[in-house]
Amino acid sequence: MERVFYIVCAFLFLDTNANWVAKYGPFRTLLYSDWITCDHSKDLNLNVSATEVFFYDFQNDYNYSYTIDSAAEAIRNAYNLDVTRRLILFVPGYKSHIARNAPEIIRMAFKNVPNIYLMILDHSIYTSAQGGRVKSYERSVNYTYDLGKAVGQLLTKFRLIGFESKNIHCIGHSLGGQILGYAGSMYYNMTSEKVWRVTGIDPAGPCFSNSLIEDQIRSGIAEYVEVYHCNAGGLGTTSVLADADFFLNDGKIQPLCDANFFNSFGDSEARCSHKSCVKYWAETVSNPGWYLAWKCDSYKEFTKGKCAANEVTIAGYSNPGNATGVFYASTATYGVL
Ligand SMILES: *[C@@H]1O[C@H](CO)[C@@H](O)[C@H](O)[C@H]1NC(C)=O
Ligand SMILES: *[C@@H]1O[C@H](CO)[C@@H](O)[C@H](O)[C@H]1NC(C)=O
Ligand SMILES: *[C@@H]1O[C@H](CO)[C@@H](O)[C@H](O)[C@H]1NC(C)=O
Ligand SMILES: *[C@@H]1O[C@H](CO)[C@@H](O)[C@H](O)[C@H]1NC(C)=O
Ligand SMILES: *[C@@H]1O[C@H](CO)[C@@H](O)[C@H](O)[C@H]1NC(C)=O
Repeated sequence: MERVFYIVCAFLFLDTNANWVAKYGPFRTLLYSDWITCDHSKDLNLNVSATEVFFYDFQNDYNYSYTIDSAAEAIRNAYNLDVTRRLILFVPGYKSHIARNAPEIIRMAFKNVPNIYLMILDHSIYTSAQGGRVKSYERSVNYTYDLGKAVGQLLTKFRLIGFESKNIHCIGHSLGGQILGYAGSMYYNMTSEKVWRVTGIDPAGPCFSNSLIEDQIRSGIAEYVEVYHCNAGGLGTTSVLADADFFLNDGKIQPLCDANFFNSFGDSEARCSHKSCVKYWAETVSNPGWYLAWKCDSYKEFTKGKCAANEVTIAGYSNPGNATGVFYASTATYGVL
């Protein structure tokens, strides 16, 4: 009797507390159908100095790129910066580089927004495909901590130039979302202040969903942390650790990405849903008020209208940032698919 009891407990423990695995160092997780090794060591001291920062001042039709260590100083020297503008940093995901789709969508979204500077990070030299999908993802995960630290240092330099923490907004897609977890923490360690907002767009799941909380994007690394879920359990995280977690549509498979249809990216269900998240979020930049989101425990209850009387907020760029908890929003009702 006693023996049976212990066995049952062990299984429950493994099931409900995946963090247990992470304490034993590098662990293994599934990426598509392949097992990969995940390493979140903080002492690899990888050289990330070839990471590039693309800087855009659309109002003055100015753009330039610099390597990460010299970017803040170079921009200040080259340019009469208006430190009262909002500073927006976008960190794309695994394998993405400046000419890829996600950076382009974000560039277009902010092109006509006044009083901002946009910076886009290109870390592809460390995260691009090399040695196949498994090796290159493992390598990218290895780099996440040092990239996050470098981003935290970059933002700290902008703070010292005169930008205020309350004007710094960081947005990360996929691996970029997880990089921002470390970046926000690093910024806080260096300045004793938190950046205004961190927005995670379908933060990477593989190697992160089941890792320790301090290795994930989470509440506390910015004044306000919001996460948008589009492919939870696939390429996106299942963790609900932000101040507000928004599940768009069902949060898992997006409307035009169903494997039964020829989807818009000619991609797998997961990749298509994961990428759609950037487009959904970017749409909100020029559409204040999009998308209304209701506090709700599940998609099922949301679609049945059971949450219609619950707290409502805005999932998107105009999120006032005072809501906490889990929310559901439908992009489909706005015709955004
Ligand atoms: C880091 O890499 C850059 C080139 O990517 C190189 O110039 C620099 O010397 C390296 N730094 C160290 C400490 O190895
Ligand atoms: C960057 O600046 C160049 C001119 O130096 C301009 O031709 C180009 O359109 C700009 N790119 C963007 C994305 O604004
Ligand atoms: C990741 O880092 C570990 C060291 O902690 C190393 O053993 C492993 O080979 C690295 N993986 C890749 C793909 O570079
Ligand atoms: C910031 O400091 C805390 C406390 O020392 C530490 O746990 C955390 O890892 C640091 N953040 C980064 C990004 O190194
Ligand atoms: C959040 O802020 C918005 C805009 O300022 C306001 O309309 C709303 O009532 C606030 N919600 C809560 C729960 O405080």
